[in-house]
Amino acid sequence: MNRLVDRYGPWALVTGASDGIGAATARRLAAEGFALLLVARRQAKLTALADELKAAHRVEVETLAIDLGTEYGVSGLLRASEAHDIGMLVAAAGFGTSGSFLASPIADEVAMLDVNCRAVLSLTHAFGNRFAGRGRGGIVLFSSLVAFQGVPNSANYAATKAFVQSLAEGIGPELRARGVDVLAVAPGPVRSGFAARAGMRMGATDSPVTVAKGLIDALGRQSLVRPGMLSKLLEFALTFLPRRGRVWMMGKVMSGMARTGDAR
Ligand SMILES: NC(=O)c1ccc[n+]([C@@H]2O[C@H](COP(=O)([O-])OP(=O)(O)OC[C@H]3O[C@@H](n4cnc5c(N)ncnc54)[C@H](OP(=O)(O)O)[C@@H]3O)[C@@H](O)[C@H]2O)c1
Repeated sequence: MNRLVDRYGPWALVTGASDGIGAATARRLAAEGFALLLVARRQAKLTALADELKAAHRVEVETLAIDLGTEYGVSGLLRASEAHDIGMLVAAAGFGTSGSFLASPIADEVAMLDVNCRAVLSLTHAFGNRFAGRGRGGIVLFSSLVAFQGVPNSANYAATKAFVQSLAEGIGPELRARGVDVLAVAPGPVRSGFAARAGMRMGATDSPVTVAKGLIDALGRQSLVRPGMLSKLLEFALTFLPRRGRVWMMGKVMSGMARTGDAR
């Protein structure tokens, strides 16, 4: 049997499966032999991916179209997921904003906090308990290159990713003692639906397929992975700067990428 299915299977839950990194990870997990519960808001995209994976890999795939920005969506997912023996959570649903912090509508920033942090926290807590109860499981959380310092012109997005990074680091040792592996994934820029929704213009990017491969190789072996050459290069470029130098550098990078608000 495959290493990951043996260790965490038979079912995996992938949030954010309708696009980008979540969809690429779902494809990899289906190829590994996982049965899948795919979650996002766009039902048509989830159905198309489910049909593709069932035909290509003969695995069970179910879909659930819900908004993880709502309490109702999160509790609905927790209820629906009880029907399956899920042993792996890939919490890829998330989005960013960019541009001036003061010019951004506060409703957008709070909505981002709800999806990137509150939903991730609730799912991690619920599935962490379920996995600890069965004595094995894997949790994949999405941090970012931006998680490791403040980032002008993407301040709240970077703060949400700092929350996820810190959560993953903190729970890692606690859950390992209960048979549960936790992995923080910290990509650099990735070509996906992310840039359009965040109002960003990206130059060089890694592919979602690279990120999916990196996280699957790392789960159970590392607590943090920076998938792809670009994320490693960018992190190396920042490594020797003091924290305020990293903030300045990331602000320069982001002011070139932000298309919305009065980025400067
Ligand atoms: N792309 C990058 O450069 C990059 C870099 C570092 C980290 N990341 C992180 O990687 C993760 C995946 O991003 P990506 O690049 O794959 O972006 P993406 O292509 O835009 O995909 C985001 C996914 O999240 C889902 N989603 C967004 N809001 C949701 C909501 N309210 N409820 C349920 N699902 C929701 C979207 O589905 P629906 O729209 O159908 O709901 C979509 O499936 C995110 O956490 C992101 O912060 C991305």
